Amino acid sequence: MVLFCCPLCSAPLCREGNVLRCPAGHSFDLAREGYAHLLPPNRKHSKAPGDDREMVAARSAFLDKGYYLPLRAALEEQALGLTGADSAPVVVDSGCGEGWYTAGVFHALAGAGREPRIAGVDISKFALRRAARRLPQGQFAVASAYRLPLPDGCAHLLLDIFSPLAAAEFARVLRPGGHFLYVVPSARHLWQMKQVLYPQPYENPVKVEQYPGFAYLGAVPVRYSIALDDPADILALFRMTPYAWKTPREGVERLEQLDRLETEIGFDLHLYQRT
Ligand SMILES: C[S@@+](CC[C@H](N)C(=O)[O-])C[C@H]1O[C@@H](n2cnc3c(N)ncnc32)[C@H](O)[C@@H]1O
Ligand SMILES: [Zn+2]
Repeated sequence: MVLFCCPLCSAPLCREGNVLRCPAGHSFDLAREGYAHLLPPNRKHSKAPGDDREMVAARSAFLDKGYYLPLRAALEEQALGLTGADSAPVVVDSGCGEGWYTAGVFHALAGAGREPRIAGVDISKFALRRAARRLPQGQFAVASAYRLPLPDGCAHLLLDIFSPLAAAEFARVLRPGGHFLYVVPSARHLWQMKQVLYPQPYENPVKVEQYPGFAYLGAVPVRYSIALDDPADILALFRMTPYAWKTPREGVERLEQLDRLETEIGFDLHLYQRT
């Protein structure tokens, strides 16, 4: 069953061959890799919005080496616990990128005997090409987090991992009692990398926000450190951070000269429940 709804009239979509169609006749092609394009053209502010091909490739290369496995394991554990009452939970990953966490959560739930249905949405087609290949069991669509092509109250669990926060839209698609996991970097995430990049690094601001329609249940911290011995991995990590756009040339050159980088890693999984 198709989880997505029509981005033009919100009616349910059905699959007919390589097309998703609503009862009003709006139709959307599925790409060769299996993802759908559900971003209306008037909402597309550039020709290829979201992360570009190089950013996606750098992130995939880095994630596939397993440096962020402790975060994925924490997400899997949370997903298992939070959807424990449902044998066929619906999970939405907003800003899913190339689906590395989406796939982990799907396999954890399926491995525990559940029958999960999982939808990944991202505004970058380069990311979704990889996501759809990585997890053929998932349903993926190019769309905006601020206008998810999903019906009201459809999801048991919504994940946002370092992606744009659209709290009102997340509240709309979650069913009452459903959970929202918002993953953000901790104050000292990548501290030693920032010490190389900047003469005076700052800690990441950490602030817990309240959102209408949600009760805040607390945060699960994930802290560890990684040692990168390959300059290609150091640069791949750098390119998947926001520092890649704003670091002065001298800082990037210092990083490029390193053969090894050991750095703190920190994430907080903020947990909210739809009221
Ligand atoms: C830092 S990446 C995180 C990707 C993935 N969650 C991960 O952790 O590997 C942020 C993602 O948000 C996507 N993105 C940016 N703006 C978006 C929007 N308005 N709606 C949906 N996705 C968006 C980007 O294309 C990118 O894949
Ligand atoms: Zn329609």
